[in-house]
Amino acid sequence: SLPVPSVQEMVRKDSQSVPERYIQEHNNRPLDSEFSPDLFEIPIINFSLLANGDEEEQRKLDISCKEWGFFQITDHGVTEKVLHDMKAAEAAFFELPLEEKKKYAMGENDLQGYGQGYVVSEQQKLEWCDLIFLMTLPPKIRKFKHWPVSIPGFKEAVETYSTEMQKVADELLANISLLMGMEREDLKSLHGEMKQAMRMNYYPLCSRPELVLGISPHSDASTITLLLQDDELTGLQIRHKQKWVPVKPIPNAIVVNIGDTLEVWSNGVYKSIEHRAVTNEKRSRMSIATFFIPGDEVDIGPLESMVDDKHHPRMYKKIKYLDFLRHSLGGKLDGKAHTEFLK
Ligand code: SIN
Ligand code: FE2
Repeated sequence: SLPVPSVQEMVRKDSQSVPERYIQEHNNRPLDSEFSPDLFEIPIINFSLLANGDEEEQRKLDISCKEWGFFQITDHGVTEKVLHDMKAAEAAFFELPLEEKKKYAMGENDLQGYGQGYVVSEQQKLEWCDLIFLMTLPPKIRKFKHWPVSIPGFKEAVETYSTEMQKVADELLANISLLMGMEREDLKSLHGEMKQAMRMNYYPLCSRPELVLGISPHSDASTITLLLQDDELTGLQIRHKQKWVPVKPIPNAIVVNIGDTLEVWSNGVYKSIEHRAVTNEKRSRMSIATFFIPGDEVDIGPLESMVDDKHHPRMYKKIKYLDFLRHSLGGKLDGKAHTEFLK
C-alpha cells in the first residue's frame, strides 16, 4: 500500500482545500444520476423477536438477505453504554495528535493499524477517510502494537464491544443457517476458526462533499459485517435497484450487511451488495465496521444444499479464503469485482 496523507490533518490545516486526487470522476460523484434519497428504505428487523424464533422476523430476514443484502437491527440487547464507550474510544483515538496516531501506523504489508484505505497506484482517486484497522478475535491474533492502549478505557471498550458483536453475529448466522436449510450451528462451523476484525472510519467534514467519496463503491469480503454508525449523520449508501439509497441512522441500531463469502456459500441467493460512504460539510462522521470472516484455509464455494443442477446451477468456483482475500485486497475498491472472478 502506498503511503497517503491523513485527510483529517489536511482538513485541520485548511478546511477549504479539496486536492485534485480526491475529486471523483463525474459518474462516481455522490449526486450522480443514480442517487435516490427517498425512493427506498432498507428493512428493519427486531433482533430480539428474531432470536426468539418469530416467524415474521425470520421471513423479513430472508427477504432482506435476498433482495437487499442490508438491514438494520433494533432491540439487539447490546447496551447503550457499550455502544457509547466504543464510539468514545474511537473518537479519543482520532483526537490524538497526528504524531501520536502515527505510533500505531500500518506497516508496509500489514492490514492492521492506523492509515488509509488500500492505495495501489499513483493515479488512483483517494478517499476522504482515515481509519484504524484491528484484528479482534480470536484474541491471539490481536497485535497490540497497533492498539492505542495508552488511551484510558480504549482496550476495554473494544474488547467488550467485540464480545457483544460476536454474540449478535452468532445469532444472525444461526438464523441464516436455518434459512439455508441447515442446522443453527452449521454456518458458524463452516468458518473453521472464525476471525473478527474492526475498521474504525473517520470522515472529516468536507467543503465540497459533492465531489468526493468517503469510501468508494465496494462489497465486503466478509461473511457478514456489523456497522455502528453516527446517530444523526447519513453517510452510508447502498445500491438497490440501480439506485444509491442512503441508510438513515436509527439511534443505537446496528446495520448488517451480507458479504461476498455468504454470497458465494449461498450460491448467489444472498447478495453482497455494493455500498459507499459520502461526506458532508457540517461535521466529521465516524463509523465502526466489524467483519466476520472464515479461517485462512477454509474453502469457500457454493454449499451443496444451495446447488441443484436443474434450478440452481453452481455459480462460483471454489477457492481458499486466504486466496480470495488476497485477490480482493490486490485491487483497489472497485465495486463488485470480487465475486465476479469466481464465476
Ligand atoms: C463501509 O462499511 O464500507 C463504510 C460504512 C460507513 O462508514 O458507513
Ligand atoms: Fe464496506
